[in-house]
Amino acid sequence: MFATPFLDLPPLAGAAGSVQLPGSKSISNRVLLLAALSQGQTEVHDLLASDDTRVMLDALRELGCTVDEAGNGLVRITGLGGLNGTLPRSPARLFMGNAGTAMRPLTAALALLGGEYQLSGVPRMHERPIGDLVDALRQLGCHIDYLGNDGYPPLHIAHGAGLPQLRLQEPIRVRGDVSSQFLTALLMALPLVAREQDIVIEVVGELISRPYIHITLELLARFGIAVRHDAWQRFTIPAGSRYQSPGSIHVEADASSASYFIALGAIATGVNGQNGIKIEGVGLDSIQGDIRFVEAARAMGAQITGGPNWLHIARGSWPLKAIELDCNHIPDAAMTLAVMALYAEGTTTLTNIASWRVKETDRLAAMAIELRKLGASVEEGADYLRVTPPATARDWRAASIHTYDDHRVAMCFSLAAFNPARLPVRIEDPKCVAKTFPDYFEALFQVAQADSGHVPVICIDGPTASGKGTVAAEVAARLGYHFLDSGALYRVTALAAVQAGINLSAENEAAIAQLARTLPVRFEGSQIWLGDADVSEAIRTEEAGMNASRVSALPLVRKALIALQHGFRRLPGLVADGRDMGTVIFPGAPLKVFMTASAACRADRRYKQLISKGLSANIFDLRADLEARDARDQNRSAAPLKAAQDALALDNSTLTIDETVSQVLVWWQEHQPFATAAAG
Ligand code: DC
Repeated sequence: MFATPFLDLPPLAGAAGSVQLPGSKSISNRVLLLAALSQGQTEVHDLLASDDTRVMLDALRELGCTVDEAGNGLVRITGLGGLNGTLPRSPARLFMGNAGTAMRPLTAALALLGGEYQLSGVPRMHERPIGDLVDALRQLGCHIDYLGNDGYPPLHIAHGAGLPQLRLQEPIRVRGDVSSQFLTALLMALPLVAREQDIVIEVVGELISRPYIHITLELLARFGIAVRHDAWQRFTIPAGSRYQSPGSIHVEADASSASYFIALGAIATGVNGQNGIKIEGVGLDSIQGDIRFVEAARAMGAQITGGPNWLHIARGSWPLKAIELDCNHIPDAAMTLAVMALYAEGTTTLTNIASWRVKETDRLAAMAIELRKLGASVEEGADYLRVTPPATARDWRAASIHTYDDHRVAMCFSLAAFNPARLPVRIEDPKCVAKTFPDYFEALFQVAQADSGHVPVICIDGPTASGKGTVAAEVAARLGYHFLDSGALYRVTALAAVQAGINLSAENEAAIAQLARTLPVRFEGSQIWLGDADVSEAIRTEEAGMNASRVSALPLVRKALIALQHGFRRLPGLVADGRDMGTVIFPGAPLKVFMTASAACRADRRYKQLISKGLSANIFDLRADLEARDARDQNRSAAPLKAAQDALALDNSTLTIDETVSQVLVWWQEHQPFATAAAG
């Protein structure tokens, strides 16, 4: 996940390949509860891993279900079977976090099954209404008390011995205009007690979020419960209903998340002879309302095919076709259409989207402001948005997109990186995508490609102990870029040679180069692996540094490591530190820094470093070693240590690491076309 203050997307050129999207939250928690209420085992595949599903799994365990988390999204639940099987373990205290999809249905199910329970959550959960559901359950004869404020969790459910006496003959009335989760909760709980007679639920007031009730009914059907409904106002659970595990069930990928990749497929050209985007985990038969985004994307020109659990999207009409669409049925995914409109010929109008104003942010205002920043003409109505793209490539502008703590703003504007002007796009606060899709940008970078020259590289070269490694790693972390410690590659090569019993002299150049070419080196965070061995410590000794300096003087060894180093230049960008990053490996890099510090200062830093590790050291010897290594690195014939002509010199003898990092970031910001000064 990118937790940086902003993420700069370089201009993107194409996209192709497969993406696996996270599972739908609504489906995940419903399936878990239904599996728990069924008898026998249910294998749940592709379960979403999130705070809300964690809460549900923990609660089910607490209630006596056997929950086997096999990893990779597979969870096996052995259900209790409700009244036909074992009853939940009672008394129990359940912590629901902030998961409405766990709190509401569990309250209903436990109230009907009898026993004693306390359900609570985080403070925000205690501000989320549950009164309408409690009222409906009390009508039935369930005993539920509020432990805090009336109408809100925490709740206490208490029945004496035996099952509650329930009044099931009358229709159960529940309000539908506050949260559709109340109706969902009743629909999932009442089949437990539908024995002799049909049970009828009547919705009072207008039913909001009908697509979510549709999901509930579809999932109930898969667990053997066939609910009938009249115009979404009156729902009937037939007498004799009984939960039946389907044995195995796949959680669909989230259809709203799919909209970004559907749009990507419609906008991007193929790469490397591969065409289109394949989305795994959600298909044309999806039970989620937002799957109808597919129709809208087709209307704009996308070529979409699909099967039961997959979609394939390729560019069709280009430019895209402008549309006028009532988006009431796909409010979330419709934001993606507003960004697709940037690539359409003519004006796109999205209507009936007043609900955008009361979401994570006022999405109508937000979309209008941010689309205008890119150069589009936008008319913002009370409940509509009219988008006309920039007239020509020259009318596009580089923009820093404010994201309003709204995951969907961040995700849909990433698609602006395909602009014909080849301008980068800055996404502020990229971590806001975590609400539904923590690895959104990683997934995007897996399939999207920039022309290699467009993937930014910052080179930081300099002599040993100048602090460039620490600074480069920090700059990379602040920008969300990859990091290449090229010195480590020479250190690992030298270590591999020593381990293979190869003397590090010039006559073994070919053998050492051969080792370097096939070096099984892996970087994992701050750890460096050579094959199965963690060599992070072993390559940091003074001796290892000197050995690295020796092998790095061999031209064939340097050549052997070039391809490996180029491979680090990946989206969204790279910070590379070494001796020849700016001169040889990435000569076209937009920013090159040559970092130095006086020999006295570097010897002093190295000395303190060793002492702090509890190692003995002599500052005079250290300085002599440093100067010897500098001399060797500077005087060798192959890629000697020197500043690139266009490098900016940075002597940090009197600067702290933080000050040095800030200077590099200021220089980097000066290279960016964005107006903001957010480089901190
Ligand atoms: O940066 P470092 O101390 O880890 O580098 C170890 C040795 O590797 C250094 O003495 C010179 C060599 N090196 C190089 O020649 N070219 C690079 N790009 C990086 C390191």
